Amino acid sequence: MNNKKISVIGLGKLGLCSAACFASKGYKVIGVDIDSHRVDLINSGQNPILETNLTETLKKCKDNLRATIDYNDAINNTQVTFIVVATPSEADGSFSNQQLEESLKAIGSALKSKSDYHLVVITSTVMPGTCEHVGKFILEETSGKKCGKDFGLVYNPEFIALGSVIHDFLNPDFLLIGEINKTDGDALEEIYKNTCDNKPKFGRMNLVSAEIAKISLNCYITMKITYANSLAAICEKISGADSQIITSSIGMDTRIGKKYLKPGLGYGGPCFPRDNVAFAAFAKKVGEKAKLADMVDEVNRDQAERIKKIVKDLVKESNKTKDEVFVGVLGLSYKPNTPVIEDSQAIDIVELLINEGYKIIVYDPQSLDLARGVLGDGVKYASSSKQCAKEADVLLITTPWDEFKEIDNTDLKEGACILDCWEIFKGKKLEANIKYLGKGLVRIEDKG
Ligand SMILES: NC(=O)c1ccc[n+]([C@@H]2O[C@H](COP(=O)([O-])OP(=O)(O)OC[C@H]3O[C@@H](n4cnc5c(N)ncnc54)[C@H](O)[C@@H]3O)[C@@H](O)[C@H]2O)c1
Repeated sequence: MNNKKISVIGLGKLGLCSAACFASKGYKVIGVDIDSHRVDLINSGQNPILETNLTETLKKCKDNLRATIDYNDAINNTQVTFIVVATPSEADGSFSNQQLEESLKAIGSALKSKSDYHLVVITSTVMPGTCEHVGKFILEETSGKKCGKDFGLVYNPEFIALGSVIHDFLNPDFLLIGEINKTDGDALEEIYKNTCDNKPKFGRMNLVSAEIAKISLNCYITMKITYANSLAAICEKISGADSQIITSSIGMDTRIGKKYLKPGLGYGGPCFPRDNVAFAAFAKKVGEKAKLADMVDEVNRDQAERIKKIVKDLVKESNKTKDEVFVGVLGLSYKPNTPVIEDSQAIDIVELLINEGYKIIVYDPQSLDLARGVLGDGVKYASSSKQCAKEADVLLITTPWDEFKEIDNTDLKEGACILDCWEIFKGKKLEANIKYLGKGLVRIEDKG
């Protein structure tokens, strides 16, 4: 069954989780990273990455996973190699291949002296055309071998979210496999069938189609989120209109679907914004306009401004000056269960409010240290969600962490106003003197 040995290059947020998942299902896995400190930590049984269930999974698979900085060791002692190095965005929105190229060269050199067939799987998100023109080219050049004959090449990007990487990896809706021949695709499909907890569908196609599919999917989701937020902005102008009810109802139509059709904050994080921009960059590179992707990005960038305006109105309504109120912000990471604040809407909102001169108190269960690096002394840092709630005259819930649901009347300041962007307090019995606004219930025209 799990007789193939697997190597994973790049033991970062996705790579280490992938390595741990394969190892937990019985595969012998060798992880490679250029960061020797990270390699030492993993080999000594420590987890260098904050991710739900990763520590437990690493413990479970400790006999099947080891780490090294040595590519030869990894390539010679495994049959399949997943490349999961970072591909950060360039100024034009496309993805950098720098780490990928270094990794491909090292794999190619190691393949030179290997006689057995080896399957190379590129998992890192890449621009369309990269697997063929960069991956195949570098591997053939450096190994002196022929792609499809001496080694295989597959593109297999993941659709997972930080905070639920392990769960998403083991329970994918579908797996995308871009292949140059059926045998390689079959080999990869077999590995996933032995690894996943569910029975995922497989989308199999050639390399370039898979590369386009990866960024197209995220581009479509960002469009759906932005559609819901645009609808919410219109509903905010109409007395009685509730955008949450509208979206949850129209989502019942199977042509639309409920997922990601929920007014809230704009999208953020390390994948959605950049994949959308990359899609537009790719379209322009091939001479096409990318009006939809461009517009989605533009509308998304307006979302923090919208929330700032609502906060301004709420403060005005309280008949107090900026100096007399504290705006509390609960949640700074771009989503719950991760410390990541990259492209976080909450951080954007706080920065806009700082620029307007508001006094702000913030709290996040995991990202306060990272946030300090960005927000500095511009805000007060609460030591708990309850402290943040207690001091806030206007309380924004910007990331729907589970622990925020525990906040009740005794934790709130008398006369406070809550803007619950994710409606996690919906149905809670709040004191009459607390004003509560779910995101679908904001009324701009109500403001004084
Ligand atoms: N993190 C996610 O949620 C996610 C989701 C979907 C896709 N992806 C894609 O997966 C890829 C990896 O993302 P990540 O978030 O895990 O990145 P990361 O920055 O967390 O990890 C990258 C790792 O690669 C290592 N590395 C760099 N150069 C190397 C080399 N030459 N050889 C060996 N190791 C090397 C780094 O030391 C680091 O540990 C990216 O292309 C990203 O777009 C990530």
